[in-house]
Amino acid sequence: MIKISPSILAADFANLGSEAVAMDRAGVEMLHIDVMDGVFVPNLSIGVPVVASLRKATQNYFDVHLMIIDPIRYIDAFAKAGADMITFHIESQSDIRETIKKIKSHGIHAGVVLKPATPAEEVFPYLPLVDMVLVMTVEPGFGGQKFMADMMDKVSAIRKERDRLGLKLDIEVDGGIDNSTAAVAVKAGANVLVAGSALFSKPDYTAAVSQLREAAALGL
Ligand code: DX5
Ligand code: ZN
Repeated sequence: MIKISPSILAADFANLGSEAVAMDRAGVEMLHIDVMDGVFVPNLSIGVPVVASLRKATQNYFDVHLMIIDPIRYIDAFAKAGADMITFHIESQSDIRETIKKIKSHGIHAGVVLKPATPAEEVFPYLPLVDMVLVMTVEPGFGGQKFMADMMDKVSAIRKERDRLGLKLDIEVDGGIDNSTAAVAVKAGANVLVAGSALFSKPDYTAAVSQLREAAALGL
């Protein structure tokens, strides 16, 4: 099953609550929340209080993507704020197994993320421990960038290893996903699609989400 996770980085930050509710009504499976610290990536975005406030506006599943240098320090805070899934970069400075353990200690889902330059094999040891692997299809830090089709071999390699191990984990792609790239990512083995600008730039979110879903299904 394909899941759509709109990245609120592309939403109207002055109206985040109503933007989130509008995406709920469009039938999305989750909301993707990008957290940046200006150190791990050259940009700042939002932090814990915004997640806590959004939690009051919607019951949707929160897919929190931490682009921060030492994620383990903030796991407790994001879990308490209402994250349902926390993903963090394996290129960060935190101990990977300890960070996964800490996320899971809150009874929520854990995932690991790979930047474009990080090979698929780096994540293999953690596959049995996580609920999701996120393969970046742009350099993390900014929305609206061009989809890197050369990441598809990495998606396929992770999908193959997941299947070989008989695991159920989700494979998410993030960056440049739109009605033309969605099927490419699904064909390679992804089943969770993050889309920021491609969805929030449209006037009708319900129509935009169903078009993206239809486009993605062509890759099945
Ligand atoms: C980039 C973020 C993405 C971003 C995607 O660092 O992780 O989630 O918002 O935006 P689009 O879909 O516009 O490429
Ligand atoms: Zn993201």
